Amino acid sequence: MADARNHAIVYGASGIIGWALVDQLLKHYPAPGTFSKVTAITNRPLDLSKSFWPEKRPTGPELELVSGINLSSDGVSLADILRERVKDIENVTHVYYLVFTAMEDDVEEVATNYRMFQRVIDVHNVTSPRLKFVAFPGGTRGYGIYVPGGTFTPPLREEMVKSLPSDYSKTVVYPAYREMLTKASDGKSWTWCEVCPDTIIGFTPNGSQFSLALHWAQYLSLYAFNHDIKPRSQSKSSRVEVPFPGSTLGANSLHTPVSSKILARFMIYASLSPEKCGGGRLFNIADRAKPCTANEVWPQLASWFGLKGVQPPDTEPAGEELKAGQLPNSTPNLLPGEYTSRYQRLFAEYGCLNAAHAGVGVGNRQLDSVGYWLTFDRQLSLDRIRECGFEEEQDPVKGWLESFELFQKAGLIL
Ligand SMILES: NC(=O)c1ccc[n+]([C@@H]2O[C@H](COP(=O)([O-])OP(=O)(O)OC[C@H]3O[C@@H](n4cnc5c(N)ncnc54)[C@H](OP(=O)(O)O)[C@@H]3O)[C@@H](O)[C@H]2O)c1
Repeated sequence: MADARNHAIVYGASGIIGWALVDQLLKHYPAPGTFSKVTAITNRPLDLSKSFWPEKRPTGPELELVSGINLSSDGVSLADILRERVKDIENVTHVYYLVFTAMEDDVEEVATNYRMFQRVIDVHNVTSPRLKFVAFPGGTRGYGIYVPGGTFTPPLREEMVKSLPSDYSKTVVYPAYREMLTKASDGKSWTWCEVCPDTIIGFTPNGSQFSLALHWAQYLSLYAFNHDIKPRSQSKSSRVEVPFPGSTLGANSLHTPVSSKILARFMIYASLSPEKCGGGRLFNIADRAKPCTANEVWPQLASWFGLKGVQPPDTEPAGEELKAGQLPNSTPNLLPGEYTSRYQRLFAEYGCLNAAHAGVGVGNRQLDSVGYWLTFDRQLSLDRIRECGFEEEQDPVKGWLESFELFQKAGLIL
């Protein structure tokens, strides 16, 4: 597997998957010497000294950070920009594409995201003759979970995406990506795959559009602080209760979340196994095959903040008819995003300067709603990745707690 001339380029390196991908590559996953160079591309500026990526090691791949690359800006030649700014672009062997822009209008969202990915592929098809593999993430939205009650009976298996109703399919960009990559790779030396996560749990130094871990961490951090629990006083015996922000149905629905670390590792693993994992194959990914519920996880998350995580009150609306991102008309408690907005100033007052501008972005409302509309089972089958030899498993709580620790170090929570 080791090929010191491998050069990975990571688009969306500041995002929830991209950060972990760069982190894992710099930590030598899967083995020292596999990559000689990692180019991390970001849109917003990122200060390398505050990136929390590992320092350069003598044996590690070289890291080059290229910020300010807006893939959606028209009227400029992306090829010219990348040729000028990415050293060694002609030696890129692996493209990890983790960019996503969420928009109100689904059709516009599909068109914008499609255009950005196509531009990137067009550039590499011309400028990177050594290209071997392209990997990108889809998501369970591609299994129709945005329809109330879901579309397919779980466990969700990769072949089901072929039966996705066509009117729904038009509202998701992943099928369009598949078509584009099939055409673009035809007759070329490279191949590609898609990886499908449900909720991704991970750290970003700069905020993220849809980080549930950051959303809940900021909420629980402020909630604990307002109940006189000092930061870093994690205790299992707290009597201060914090109910799960959702309905009882939401708290009991089965799902298979994934930490950004396991997701990143599988994307790298797949990209180094083109015979097994290429050819446009789709792979579900999760921390472990056994599904979990929020009821099991929530108390362990709350406990890290010194709180006692409890079930939602019986008065919570059920939410079975809600669409993705919709909330019930009223809830007895403030939602996490509402609570965080109300007390946000405490972050700055108590030295978490980063938290003032690096929270969750456009995903705020959708993240508030996950406990209400995701009332149905949606667990993924992991048979396919296991058949391909990827065996890594971990307790789904681990990714949460590792993210909380990094959020605290990065000044994103108290
Ligand atoms: N979040 C989840 O739980 C989840 C679950 C299932 C699937 N997914 C899938 O994972 C992918 C990423 O997820 P996310 O949206 O949650 O990630 P995210 O953390 O918000 O990251 C998105 C990345 O895209 C970059 N980006 C956005 N617009 C850009 C532009 N115009 N030019 C260049 N870069 C741009 C951002 O860069 P800057 O920060 O530098 O602007 C950021 O690095 C999406 O395909 C999503 O569907 C996510």
